[in-house]
Amino acid sequence: MSAGNSGQIDSVMQENRLFPPPEEFSSNSQIGSFEAYQELYDKAKADPVAFWGELARQELHWFEPFNETLDWQEPFAKWFVGGKTNVSYNCLDSHLSTWRRNKAAIIWEGEPGDQRTLTYQQLHREVCRFANVLKSLGVVAGDVVSIYMPMTPELAIAMLACARIGAVHSVIFAGFSAESIADRNNDAQAKIQLTSDGAWRRGKVLPLKATVDEALDKSPTVEHCIVLRRVGNDPAMKEGRDHWWHDLVDEASDNCEAAQLDSESPLFILYTSGSTGKPKGIKHTTAGYNLYAKKTFQWVFDHKDEDIFWCTADCGWITGHSYVVYGPLSAGATTVMYEGAPNWPEEDRFWELIEKYRINILYTAPTAIRAFIKWGDHHVEKHDLSSLRLLGTVGEGINPEAWIWYHNIVGGERCPIVDTWWQTETGGIMMSPLPGAIATKPGSCTKPLPGVLPAILDPAGNPVGENQGGWLVMTHPWPGMLRGIWGDDDRYREQYWSKVPGKYLAGDNARVDSDGYYWIMGRIDDVINVAGHRLSTIEVESALVSHSAVAEAAAIGRTDEIKGQAIAVFVTLKEGEPSEEMRNELKLHVRKEIGALAVPDDVRFTNTLPKTRSGKIMRRLLRDIAEGKEEVGDTSTLEDYTALASLRDES
Ligand code: WT7
Repeated sequence: MSAGNSGQIDSVMQENRLFPPPEEFSSNSQIGSFEAYQELYDKAKADPVAFWGELARQELHWFEPFNETLDWQEPFAKWFVGGKTNVSYNCLDSHLSTWRRNKAAIIWEGEPGDQRTLTYQQLHREVCRFANVLKSLGVVAGDVVSIYMPMTPELAIAMLACARIGAVHSVIFAGFSAESIADRNNDAQAKIQLTSDGAWRRGKVLPLKATVDEALDKSPTVEHCIVLRRVGNDPAMKEGRDHWWHDLVDEASDNCEAAQLDSESPLFILYTSGSTGKPKGIKHTTAGYNLYAKKTFQWVFDHKDEDIFWCTADCGWITGHSYVVYGPLSAGATTVMYEGAPNWPEEDRFWELIEKYRINILYTAPTAIRAFIKWGDHHVEKHDLSSLRLLGTVGEGINPEAWIWYHNIVGGERCPIVDTWWQTETGGIMMSPLPGAIATKPGSCTKPLPGVLPAILDPAGNPVGENQGGWLVMTHPWPGMLRGIWGDDDRYREQYWSKVPGKYLAGDNARVDSDGYYWIMGRIDDVINVAGHRLSTIEVESALVSHSAVAEAAAIGRTDEIKGQAIAVFVTLKEGEPSEEMRNELKLHVRKEIGALAVPDDVRFTNTLPKTRSGKIMRRLLRDIAEGKEEVGDTSTLEDYTALASLRDES
């Protein structure tokens, strides 16, 4: 891949290079040596339940203490049973009696360059107001609030307001289609929809309200829609159903006590792709999730009160839930939110933001780093990034080349890099270096966090040897774990707990090296990772075959320089001819069915899909073709793989 103008990358790239934590970093860290990490890890491992129980008592506010730390009826966990707490209280009220009440909670910048800073006190007031708005529309504990909004402070305010009154939020990334919103609203039986008139993206307006209108036509459970004015366009407002955000908030009192909620009260649902066509509503609850987001934030980012922390993820993903909102705010941190694209107006927007706000910790995705490399070092070098002290990555494995670039060019060779492995299901980071304690190896997420007990097993459930690939599992429940799939206990059991009885199956392959370092080796199912986001190939296939011209479709992930994986689809038509127009129509169709993030990069037409004798699509062959490893021969418009298929036996 391209290395921008930093030509030295290849020569410094070596497997097993070890980057010990800089001494100065370690001496100022909460956990400042490998021995300190190991001691904490061993203590947690000896009695994980007691370990988490003690932390929960220390770290969360309890209206009523819990009387049992863990009730484990496999695969259903209840943490901190009998306790009463509130996530919004832990994120806001607990700081109001300290000096932090006037600390910046959220520093926000919109894509056009507008700025807002909310102190803890101000954020508290806004959250109370919006919580009262929700109440005034009849929202009670347990109701589901669907959120389809741009990255504005109001998005965080809405999440915290739900948490305050025990409503369950379901944030849907603002790149999803009307179809996807409606599917999720119906699955969750959402009662209220939150959106905005639009969002800014690369200088253009995304008309979110128009998309929501289409979705609400198919979401019969949604009674009200609250619309934030963000871009100032003039969306249609349906009398009785739609309300302007500011009209309601202006009327609302800023006094709203946090509800005393059960530890296991549902906090949010977040939909993610599984190995079937239907997205799963991952369910997280109150106390365990809150503790886990807070502690992992403090450990992994070695948080200090004077830090300015920027996680670049959108709140539409779990990373935004845990490390833009809940982790940082529980810890009393200053969290940065940015609305727009990294290349608007120029390709140096991230570095400009870091310089402007003197950001200390940057947490972003490998796909973004690869794009930055391509855009060139000069964008980075133009800016003073000396405020940075720690860098992080998430979403997919990082290739050593990108790691070294991030380390050298962004981190000035002085900032440790935390490569964090986790999932929507895990609620927070599971494996990552502790930056003051663990020497890093480019491409490895290194070691499990205290209280996390992974293993690598073969399909029969036996441990594999050193450097042998196998299934990554968790052998003990942890507080941040999902509590199930919304409304589908069977699928929860089947997907995560049945292949290896009694263990949580993450769905990733991994190996452990001779130093006990973990290396993630990719998914074991038909889930692909496009630009750090999970997509099921079957979802893309279902979208394609719902088009009247398509007979059959196969979607696979192929290597992509920037996105990690790109989507290649192979299509047989039942009507119409292969053409550029048809290709574009199918891309548009997938965009309409799922959203822009699922639009295939390659659409190839074939007269038949290559299949094994038992009728299974030969995915490996298609992957080789998509990667260009197999020459198909003369490919005018309609490809023919029968000859290739007959040379292979993949039954
Ligand atoms: C899947 C989870 C975790 C928040 C963002 C994605 C892959 C994630 C890493 C990493 C290698 C990684 C895994 C995982 N993944 N982080 N540091 N190294 N792979 O959340 O959409 O739930 O996806 O992303 O395959 O299972 P998600």
